[in-house]
Amino acid sequence: LCSTSANLVYARHSMNFQLILEEIVATLRPQLGQEGAVANYIPALARVSTNQFGIALRTVDGHEAAAGDAFTPFSIQSISKLFALSIGMRLMGEELWDRIGREPSGNPFNSLVQLENEQGVPRNPFINAGAIAVTDRLVSHCEGKIEMLAQLSSVCNEAVHYNPEVAASEAATGYRNVALANFMKSFGKIDNDVATVLDVYFHHCAIEMNCLQLARAAGYLCRDGAHPYLADRQVVTERQARRINSLMLTCGTYDAAGEFAFLIGLPCKSGVGGGIVAVVPDKLTLCVWSPALDSTGNSLLGRKALELFVARTGLSVF
Ligand code: DON
Repeated sequence: LCSTSANLVYARHSMNFQLILEEIVATLRPQLGQEGAVANYIPALARVSTNQFGIALRTVDGHEAAAGDAFTPFSIQSISKLFALSIGMRLMGEELWDRIGREPSGNPFNSLVQLENEQGVPRNPFINAGAIAVTDRLVSHCEGKIEMLAQLSSVCNEAVHYNPEVAASEAATGYRNVALANFMKSFGKIDNDVATVLDVYFHHCAIEMNCLQLARAAGYLCRDGAHPYLADRQVVTERQARRINSLMLTCGTYDAAGEFAFLIGLPCKSGVGGGIVAVVPDKLTLCVWSPALDSTGNSLLGRKALELFVARTGLSVF
């Protein structure tokens, strides 16, 4: 199902990325299991061992490096919001922004507080309310569940699947998401049946991928929107890719986005499964995974790994 090291093309690059990733794993492995906690509000995620750490990258010219548990599949959770947004922008262009803002929320990812004062328009597409609004637009324009798997399988060059148990677990415990969707619907900002929209949203969160697959899948974000594998094919336009990166920098890690920008300085998107995707525009995409989270819902060792990576390589958008 997943890639093995046999089909990796290791970097023949002035920087030895393979060595750098191995050093990061060696530095952080001793810290596994010491701090942070797995997301426990979804039973299927609460069972994941914290003793795991993986990291992988793919450069703009297709060189790859991977270390630690880079081939272990995990629940991508909110990283799916990045791909849902990309599909929405591709299908709808500017119209997508009629109901979704572009400001950092400064609040937890599942917060309800801003929606009432802001007439049911979510702050940005990367908090839950915003992703549910994007999903509603997808439901109006395509088969949301099928389109997501098709898009992801295409950009990571192998078949990607949902974990049905995680999707069921999300649905069984997603009281806040039900509240968010109904609240937006009460403002006339959700067109479709709430249960249908949430079913698609929960399935998107329940997709399983590994670090290398995610580094590949996000490849278009370091290539001005160009498909990572198919020549002459854009996943999104150059301008849209730039805008997605901007939103990742300002909103991709929830109320820790300022801290991530300060400490790391790269567009990032995190999920409560412990994954974080990061982009170095024009150079590479990177994915790090470790399930134990900090209080803002971001992978604790994932963040430390990204700090080590930028310190070691000097790569940054600034
Ligand atoms: O909506 C939820 O509750 C989750 N399934 C997804 C949340 C998530 O990953 C937020 N991120 N850090």
